[in-house]
Amino acid sequence: MHANLSLQQSPPFSVPARFFISAPLFGLAAALVMLWYGPEIFTNRWTPELLAVTHFLTLGFLAMSMCGAMMQLMPVLMGIMIPRPIFFSSIIHASLFLGSASLGIAWLLHINTLFIIAMASLAFSFSVFILMATERLLRSKNQHATRGMMLLALLALFITAIFGLYLAMGYANQTWPLSRHLTDLHLSWGLLGWVALLIMAVAYQVIPMFQITDEYPVLHQRWIGWIVFVTLLTLSLTYFWPLTILNTITSALLATCLLTFAVTTLWVLQTRRRQLADLTMNFWQLAMISLIFLALTWLIPTLIQANTPIFLLGVLMIFGFAMSTVNGMMYKIFPFLIWLHLSTHNKNLRDQGKRESQVKVPHMRKIIPETAGLWQFRFHLASLILLALATNWPQWFYYPAALLFIISQLTLIFNLSNAVRFYNLKIIELELNIHPH
Ligand code: HEM
Repeated sequence: MHANLSLQQSPPFSVPARFFISAPLFGLAAALVMLWYGPEIFTNRWTPELLAVTHFLTLGFLAMSMCGAMMQLMPVLMGIMIPRPIFFSSIIHASLFLGSASLGIAWLLHINTLFIIAMASLAFSFSVFILMATERLLRSKNQHATRGMMLLALLALFITAIFGLYLAMGYANQTWPLSRHLTDLHLSWGLLGWVALLIMAVAYQVIPMFQITDEYPVLHQRWIGWIVFVTLLTLSLTYFWPLTILNTITSALLATCLLTFAVTTLWVLQTRRRQLADLTMNFWQLAMISLIFLALTWLIPTLIQANTPIFLLGVLMIFGFAMSTVNGMMYKIFPFLIWLHLSTHNKNLRDQGKRESQVKVPHMRKIIPETAGLWQFRFHLASLILLALATNWPQWFYYPAALLFIISQLTLIFNLSNAVRFYNLKIIELELNIHPH
């Protein structure tokens, strides 16, 4: 199963762990803000509370875990060495944490200076991350479609960040005009470029490898990423050169690409050779079903020139598609890494003839107990359904959705920190075995 993995290149566990553990803290922050401010945050797109929630999720949860996943997956899947991984992960993580937190708090408490701190931290974090990752990918000889898609996703993140920083100037400095016409462009590059392209790039490799399925069709791997990217470029042109027909065509094409990816992924998942129940599989399926709903909810009104339900689209994209995928991956990557690091320690001890100092490493499926993860999946699923309904009937569904969202994030924090605690205990045990006094 792990034949293609470059295990020796794996950075220390603390490198990805700090990103993954921080992500649900921001998820929890978003859920608490929702509960505190109530359904009024859905009254219009520009309420500061909604913008804070959106960025706690897109930066604090998603970008946080996606940067962490890339720092881990580039070495393990593609054999790419990350230079000084602890140093780079520390500075990228700390500044992303500070930037995401201060951007959200700046909106909630209306503090202009915090916007400046947020902008400086996020600009620093993304510059270091994008430069480091791009340089490594460009130098790599790896020929897999994932490499090209990751480069496109990084370029999309760069464009998103530039628009985001420009828009944030309008909040930090009252004399700076708030360029609202750029907001849709910023969010399109963020959600359809950075988020969707990176998820596709990673899915091409991790689904066949971890779910033991057939490969994605070659045509799909080769073209979808480019079509999405070029269509986003064309969509961007329509903002400077407004042409309704071009806008309609590009939106329809993007929605069709998402639909194609979702249907292909569900089909690939069907070819799974191992039929054991698998939590990550549940999350993948949920993510793809959300993506199908999203694509149709976008495509149909676009074709008949009706209004698109933007809150529902946001919930399906951010919460249903992106967060479900990342959440599911955490349950695969986290136990796998713990198992990998402990097994490597054991192997090194065996090589040094210190067999008796080894520690017992449980099966990967036992590191985060399946039932604990399954409960979190149920809370996540229930909060997603309720939140989708709340976009239309907030008086009925908003508070139950927010409460379940809180429970889901608390359960995720609990599950991940238990796994980290387990790992730390094993490392202490190893130390004691090697140096008994
Ligand atoms: C450097 C990082 C970022 C900064 C400084 C930033 C800043 C902003 C600002 C100032 C707005 C409000 C625009 C307005 O009032 O019209 C906004 C909106 C938005 N941003 Fe970001 N952003 C960043 C990254 C991202 C990323 C990575 C994503 C998605 C993956 C994202 C998704 C969104 C969305 C969905 C909205 C629209 C929210 C709505 O319509 O209610 N942002 N961003």
